[in-house]
Amino acid sequence: MMKRILLTFLCGLSLMGTACAQNGKSKSGVQGAAVSSGKGKTLVVYFSWGGTTKHLAEMIAFETGADIFSIEPADPYPTAYTLCTEVAKEELDKGIYRALKTKMPSLDGYDIIFIGSPVWWHTAAMIVQGAVKDIDFSGKTVVPFCTYAATYRDETLAKIAELTPRAKHLKSYGTTSPDSASIRRWLLEIGIAK
Ligand SMILES: Cc1cc2nc3c(=O)[nH]c(=O)nc-3n(C[C@H](O)[C@H](O)[C@H](O)COP(=O)(O)O)c2cc1C
Repeated sequence: MMKRILLTFLCGLSLMGTACAQNGKSKSGVQGAAVSSGKGKTLVVYFSWGGTTKHLAEMIAFETGADIFSIEPADPYPTAYTLCTEVAKEELDKGIYRALKTKMPSLDGYDIIFIGSPVWWHTAAMIVQGAVKDIDFSGKTVVPFCTYAATYRDETLAKIAELTPRAKHLKSYGTTSPDSASIRRWLLEIGIAK
């Protein structure tokens, strides 16, 4: 399955003439009451096109007792993979931040905010960048996470940290295939698991 996703992705990239250098129930609105993880009230904010990042976000929310908010586009991305990669590339190249269906929730009352994105064209999806770039994360702790097929995990996690410069950052997490054991290990390591 992973190989198929990777192959499809690499084909998509090569079709578009770009080389890939290696280094490394849909929800809207905040769900449920804010729950304390023990280290402060926690929110998981994520965007997902294909469902993998959603899966990871839900696992993080489950393990931490966090609220969860899905960043959704007002105008949905194409469901066809190649078309979606083309639209995403245009957004990246032209600096377009797609409008959100529901505006980002207030961060009042949250101390820890997990922010997650799929890797899209070497970095965080532009819709995620647009959703967080003007928010003042002073006094908050941000924990970046991402999912990816093969490349640019670290750059994407670094981008999320860069977009939230006033926050304190904890060790981020990126995976090609979310599994509960390693997610729990990471959350325990950063001291946020319930
Ligand atoms: C527009 C687009 C661009 C992508 N760019 C990359 C990339 O640069 N590196 C990578 O490893 N995977 C890339 N992928 C694959 C996704 O990051 C990967 O499948 C991810 O887990 C999808 O998360 P989602 O199911 O939550 O949307 C891309 C996928 C799409 C649709």
